[in-house]
Amino acid sequence: MRNVYVIDHPLVQHKLALIRDERTGAKEFRELVEEVAMLMAYEVTRYLPLEEVEIKTPIGPCKAKMISGKKLGVVPILRAGLGMVNGLLKLIPAAKVGHIGLYRDPETLQPVEYYCKLPADVGERELIILDPMLATGGSAVMAVDLLKEKGANSIKLMCLIAAPEGIEALHKKHPDVDIYTAAIDERLNDHGYIVPGLGDAGDRLFGTK
Ligand code: URA
Repeated sequence: MRNVYVIDHPLVQHKLALIRDERTGAKEFRELVEEVAMLMAYEVTRYLPLEEVEIKTPIGPCKAKMISGKKLGVVPILRAGLGMVNGLLKLIPAAKVGHIGLYRDPETLQPVEYYCKLPADVGERELIILDPMLATGGSAVMAVDLLKEKGANSIKLMCLIAAPEGIEALHKKHPDVDIYTAAIDERLNDHGYIVPGLGDAGDRLFGTK
């Protein structure tokens, strides 16, 4: 599928199976989500440009490579996206973190913004939106809308599980946004949950119901 990268690394798939399992409690769930986000960060950052630098090892001079200039930003969609932030920051400690808060209007079922705080230089950063579940795609589309309104011009989305409906919705409105996911599931149910999915990601992360 165009623009969709499924991270099929065995470690990611093994940990995703544990995350999906209804017997996995909140503590283990949180640890696993963070670990999978960290492993996926490896793929999301694969094409960052490198530059040659001169350093000195204890033995002598050495031409080495470092990431050149590109500034990164991670943008969790509240609240479930928070579970993925530390995994990325462990690998990319210099990344800035923006936050987007959205809730679903009970009447229209459409996402509504209630919070948005982003790095000032959003237009100069490669941004990675974090949300474990790409379900209807409504929140992801709105998050990208908001980021583009603020001047963003390089945006990726990282999730754990995507529904075909969400991928289609995001592609239709924002075909320039690459999607990184650990799995593409079957479909949405009547309540907008991904089948088989993992249940409510926010509730499982934070022990709410
Ligand atoms: N949000 C969730 O937490 N789970 C789903 O299955 C869909 C949206």
